[in-house]
Formats: sequence, structure tokens, C-alpha cells
Amino acid sequence: MSAANLNVSPELESLIARLPKVELHLHIEGTLEPELAFALAKRNDIALPFANVEALRAAYNFKDLQSFLDLYYATAAVLRTRKDFYALAMSYFTRAFADGVVHAELFFDPQTHTVRGVNLGDVFGGLRDAMTDAHNRYGITSELILCFLRHLSEQEALETLQQALPYRKEFVGVGLDSGERGNPPSKFVNVFAKARELGLRVVAHAGEEGPAGYIYEALDLLKVDRIDHGVRCDEDPELVARLARERIPLTVCPLSNLKLCVVKDLRNHNFAKLLRAGVAVTINSDDPAYFGGYIADNYRATAAALGLSAAEIVAVTENAVRGSYLAATEKTALLGRIRAAAARPIQLTVR
Ligand code: ADE
Ligand code: ZN
Repeated sequence: MSAANLNVSPELESLIARLPKVELHLHIEGTLEPELAFALAKRNDIALPFANVEALRAAYNFKDLQSFLDLYYATAAVLRTRKDFYALAMSYFTRAFADGVVHAELFFDPQTHTVRGVNLGDVFGGLRDAMTDAHNRYGITSELILCFLRHLSEQEALETLQQALPYRKEFVGVGLDSGERGNPPSKFVNVFAKARELGLRVVAHAGEEGPAGYIYEALDLLKVDRIDHGVRCDEDPELVARLARERIPLTVCPLSNLKLCVVKDLRNHNFAKLLRAGVAVTINSDDPAYFGGYIADNYRATAAALGLSAAEIVAVTENAVRGSYLAATEKTALLGRIRAAAARPIQLTVR
């Protein structure tokens, strides 16, 4: 079943549209739409291995995480200059604003770019320029999370962290992404310890394709604040109970899970089960240019497939606020805005 077959009621559609949303799992490189990829390829005189936009989009037919990553890293080759990173992030913020995003914590993969000779200062500079403009233009606040590529060595991750130190003020935390199988969190214990010593927040992808054991490693060895994906926690009831008890946020990406065959059908996704078991699940878009939907599409498809109630949709947006790296005062203010947005139709009916 494709996500396009899923519809929510007009009431839930309106609720999803007006709720202020926080996005906690978004790879900025994963927002590179084919049209922009071709425009940047032309500007930078780079040949993409596809004839045109349609041919590139037609290749978005993935059988697993690795088949997606191969295309994703190849397409990222068009990103070269500060202006390119600005254009990439600004086009994300424009779409995010249309979807009601008010705060986003963006992943980026410096190693994907530095290996091609791109200047790290241009990556930070272009992203920062867009974050500033998004705040001025749309009122969206944002933070950066620097991700290490887990298919590379811990030594390379340590070198990347070292190279990023001149930009320490530009990012709030570090993460771990790329091919999960065979690359457990335990491979990165030292670089995560170093990041924590530097006062950085820490998150990691775990339990997307990898086993529940990787979630334990991320929690106990890397000492992460949140788990990215984490959907395979379900294989271990004790782990689900722990995630619920400790209110550890899971940044779930339902349309990504569907597109990368982590689930065969959105109606079989364990999102609602985890939510109802008390886990602090959130809804996010991961790599929306590749997976057929931005954050509001993910909310709509999940609500429709799993029969989420209005109260559950509101609870999910609140989980994202609580799980974010916003300051406590900002969290309180945003929770108030969510409550006001959720209550609006009821007030209108009463009057
Ligand atoms: N990099 C970009 N998207 C990813 C995902 N879904 N899992 C792991 N690494 C990624
Ligand atoms: Zn991801």
C-alpha cells in the first residue's frame, strides 16, 4: 500500500496543519530535491549519472537502507559551495514553514563533503546563513547536529570532530548515521565520550535496520539523549518498558521506514503500539526528498494508517518539544502554543 492511499478526516487534517511542529530527525542532505540537484550540477559543472529530473526520481525505488545511501551519497556530490548549502537548507525551511514547523534540529554529514574537498567552513557557513534567514523570514528556530558516518572508522570520526572544533559554537550535538548493520554504536565509544566532554549533546541512529541490542549500546555506551528510529526496540519488551519508564525520545520516521522496507505496510508500523505503551515517540521526515513526504505528510500518513486520535497527535507533537534541545522556557512556551492550537475548534464551537 502506498502512502498516497491514506487519508485522514478533515478534522485531523486541520489539526495536523495548524499544530506547531518540532522536527528532530531530518538529514539536510536528504532534502535535496531532484530539481535543485540538477540546478547545482549545472552550476558546478558536475555530471549526474541520470539524464534528467524524471530519471533521477524514477530511481527512488529502494530495497533497503544501503540501496538508498548509495544514491544519496552520489547525489550529494553536487553540493560544493557555501551558496549550495544555503540553497539546500533554505528550500527545506520554506517547505518546513508551509508544514507548520517552528523548530528543527538538522543533521548534516561533514564527512560526505570533506572527502570531496569541500571546505568545512563553507558547509557551516551556508547552513548558518539559511538558519539565520529562516529565523528572520519564517520565525523558525534551528540547531545543527554533526553526524559521524558509521561505515567509516572511529579514528576518522575523531578527526572530523577535531576539524569541527573551530566551529564548536555552530552545532549543538553529534549523531551517528549511515549503514547500521555491522557498524554498532560500540565502535564509537571514544568519540562520543569526547563529544560529551566538550559539552555536546549526543544522539544516534539505532534499531532502524540493526537489532535491539544496538539501542542498548547507544543508551549505555554512547549515553545518548534520544534514539533515532529505534523501531526495532519492539523485539525486546524489557527495552520498550525501559524506554517508556525513562521517557527516552524515539525520533521515528514512518515514510522512511516504508520506503526503505523496514515495514512492508504503514498499517503494520509499531508507532501506535509504542505510543500507547508510553514511549515518547515523535514523527519526523528523515530524508523527505527521497521518501515521498515532508513532516506533515508523515503525520497524515501515520494518523491515517494507524487510526491515531486527535489527542494522540497532540501528544506526539508535545513529545517532540520535550525531546528537543530547546531551553526549558522555550519548551514551556511552545507547549502552550500547542495547547492553544489544539483547543481552537472547540472554542469556536462553544461560542
Ligand atoms: N543517512 C540519511 N538517512 C539515513 C537513515 N535513514 N539511516 C541512516 N543513515 C542515514
Ligand atoms: Zn536518519
